[in-house]
Amino acid sequence: MTYCLQKDRPIAVFDSGVGGISVLRELVHIMPEEDYIYYGDSKHAPYGIKDREEVRELTIAAANRLFDQGCKGLVVACNTATSAAVRSLREMYPYIPIVGIEPAVKPAVLSGEHPRVLVMATPMTIRADKLKRLMEQYESQAELIPLPCPGLMDFIERGDLNGDDLHRYLTELLYEYSNDRIDAVVLGCTHYPFATKQIRQVLGEHVKIFDGGAGTARQMQHLLKEGGLLRGELRKGQVTFENSLEGAGKEELCRRLLELEL
Ligand code: DGL
Repeated sequence: MTYCLQKDRPIAVFDSGVGGISVLRELVHIMPEEDYIYYGDSKHAPYGIKDREEVRELTIAAANRLFDQGCKGLVVACNTATSAAVRSLREMYPYIPIVGIEPAVKPAVLSGEHPRVLVMATPMTIRADKLKRLMEQYESQAELIPLPCPGLMDFIERGDLNGDDLHRYLTELLYEYSNDRIDAVVLGCTHYPFATKQIRQVLGEHVKIFDGGAGTARQMQHLLKEGGLLRGELRKGQVTFENSLEGAGKEELCRRLLELEL
C-alpha cells in the first residue's frame, strides 16, 4: 500500500471508548494547531476483560479505518490496546508515526523514597507481560502493588463521574488501602484520570497521582517533528469525533470530557 504522509492531515487518536480523551486533552494542549480524529470503539468496550487476540484484532481494524482517512500519525490512547497490538501495528505500518501508552510507573517510583505505589489498570493490562516487565525494572526502588479494576471504566463510559455509585465502587475496591498509607497511584487505563477526584477522596489528599497522557502526547509531537510533519502554523485545529456506537450520545460525552477541569 502506498501511503503519503502529509503535514495537513489529522492525527488519529484511538481508544476502546471515551477514556482516550484524557490523552487527546494533552495532545490538544501542546499541539492546538493540529486537527484530530478521535475514534472510540464503545461498541466493543470494555477491552480490558477480553482476551489479547480479540483486542489485537479490534485495534488493527480501528487503525486501518483511521489510516484509510489519511491520518499522518496514530496515538493508541488505550493501555490495553497498546499492550495487545502496538507491536503488530508498527510492523504493518513502519513508515507511520505510531505511539502507544503505558502505565506511568517510572515517575511514580521516582516520586519518593521507596514509595508504596498502587498500579490501577484493566485485568488484561495487569496480566500482560509488558506491565510485568516494566514493574520488574523498578521493584527494588518501590513497593509496587498491581490492582485490576474490572468495571471502573464503565462509570466513565456512562459519563457517571460524580455519582454515589462510583464512590461506593471505589470505596470497596480500595478498602484495604484506604487506612494503610499509599504514596502514589498509577492510573494505567486512560479512562481512570476522570475518576481522579474520587480516588483521592478514598485514598487521601496526600496521594500523588500519575498517568501517561502527557508523556504520550510529547512522544507523538517528537515523532512528527522528526518526520517534518508538524503543521507549525498559527491556527486553531479541529477535533472530529467518531464512535462505533452510533446514536448513544458518545460525541457529546467526548466533548464534555475534553472540556472538563480535572
Ligand atoms: N481505556 C482503556 C485502557 O487504557 C481500557 C478500557 C477498557 O477496558 O476498554 O486500558
